[in-house]
Amino acid sequence: MSNIVIINGPNLNLLGIREKGIYGDRDFLTYFETLRQSYGDVMLTYFQSNHEGAIIDKIHEVGFSADGIVLNAGAYTHTSLAIADAIAAVTAPVVEVHISNVYSRESFRHHSYLAKNCKGVICGFGLDGYRLAVESLLAK
Ligand code: DQA
Repeated sequence: MSNIVIINGPNLNLLGIREKGIYGDRDFLTYFETLRQSYGDVMLTYFQSNHEGAIIDKIHEVGFSADGIVLNAGAYTHTSLAIADAIAAVTAPVVEVHISNVYSRESFRHHSYLAKNCKGVICGFGLDGYRLAVESLLAK
């Protein structure tokens, strides 16, 4: 059974409440439950933290045993060399996801420190981006 871990970073605990015009009105846990049900043969787990170090700890914890990590690091995408190094350190492939199309937004969102260490980047497809990332990890 494949083991895929979804990690969400800062402020993504407020999906469904936060800036609905950008991020939509669905909360992540409801979406995650639907995703989990549609992948009955995949061990899908979810972790969210607003803290950079906790995200790094989680990447270390699962990054040598999971088959893949889906990571939306939120604003840390644009700032965190430490998360970039954590991705490089582990063996599991990481797919970077953004709900919004970061390229249609402020220029400071156009750069990712993480992307070069990731298998790929999916952005602009709303919450469906997480499903697309899972598909890409299952396809290997
Ligand atoms: C985001 C885009 C980031 O620029 C932003 O800081 C977020 C969410 C997205 O999913 O679209 O918090 O990662």
